Amino acid sequence: MIIELAEAKKNLQKKGFLDVEVDVKLDLFAEIDRLKKEKNAIILAHYYQEPDIQDVADYIGDSLGLSQQAAKTDADIIVFAGVHFMAETAKILSPQKKVLLPDLKAGCSLADSAPPELFKKFRDKYPDHIVISYINCSAGIKALSDIICTSSNAEKIIESVPKDQPIIFAPDRNLGSYLIKKTGRDMVLWNGACMVHEIFSLEKITKLKVRHPEAKIIAHPECEANVLAIADFIGSTTGLLKFTQRDDAQEYIVVTETGILHQMQKENPAKTFIPAPPNNACACNDCPHMKLNTLEKLYLCMEYEEPEITMEEGLRIAAKKPIDRMLEISAQAGL
Ligand code: 13P
Ligand code: SF4
Repeated sequence: MIIELAEAKKNLQKKGFLDVEVDVKLDLFAEIDRLKKEKNAIILAHYYQEPDIQDVADYIGDSLGLSQQAAKTDADIIVFAGVHFMAETAKILSPQKKVLLPDLKAGCSLADSAPPELFKKFRDKYPDHIVISYINCSAGIKALSDIICTSSNAEKIIESVPKDQPIIFAPDRNLGSYLIKKTGRDMVLWNGACMVHEIFSLEKITKLKVRHPEAKIIAHPECEANVLAIADFIGSTTGLLKFTQRDDAQEYIVVTETGILHQMQKENPAKTFIPAPPNNACACNDCPHMKLNTLEKLYLCMEYEEPEITMEEGLRIAAKKPIDRMLEISAQAGL
């Protein structure tokens, strides 16, 4: 076991997690619960995580809620069941805490679509613009930004900027285009996108709607404009979940990553939720990055306290400023 662990530690960066055999008879739910108490650890999970992970989490939320929790928790260890930029944001906000991510390779195609060196050159072409970046970006991009936003506070963040102040919005062109329409602000957009939200098929969703005429279409603003155009409601993951709780429809076509259906179904047991199909042979749309995390990897990272998120202090301080600004504006707006 000691040799196996030493070998797994050597391969951690390559594999993304400690590849140690877990006894199949182990009750992972009970073990994770024990580790939470023993280590004063909190599990923060995004709605796109697999149902088992959501069920052991202390908090499940969208990107804004998760960063608010990371900033205020008094736990010693934050176990981030989400993707890398989310765990990185938690570390930026709570540097004195140990931040663990079940699989370091849980990245994000949207964050990857904006490499900081290229983005800096792009930004330098617009010296009089301020940069509002969607939280789905690396610490390097955050450090080049003036304010961070999420899909639940983006409108408020944009409205907080004086009307005559030109804006660059990065990295999601779909969310950016949606916000231009919503706010009437003519922003310069970085050309990035999320692979999960871009792949939904308008044709298949339209056919689904014909078969389920009473179903409401609810969509995440990372989707393309043609999909958003047919949506009855558009919002962040928390926004979509809350809508299904207050709305009186009985059926919904859900146009975002399928993980959110777990909470929707739990909160509304009598309602029907249909995952919108992507433009391939699959019937639903999973984020391959989010789904790299498993209950086993969650247990392993808590047991061995690795992989851990670390960051150079200069980068952390530069990346924190625009996140703090976002949290201030969100608090003022009551979000
Ligand atoms: P929200 O949960 O903030 O809506 O973000 C969705 C998303 O794509 C996270 O990766
Ligand atoms: Fe990134 Fe899209 Fe996956 Fe969210 S769903 S983590 S934006 S690739």
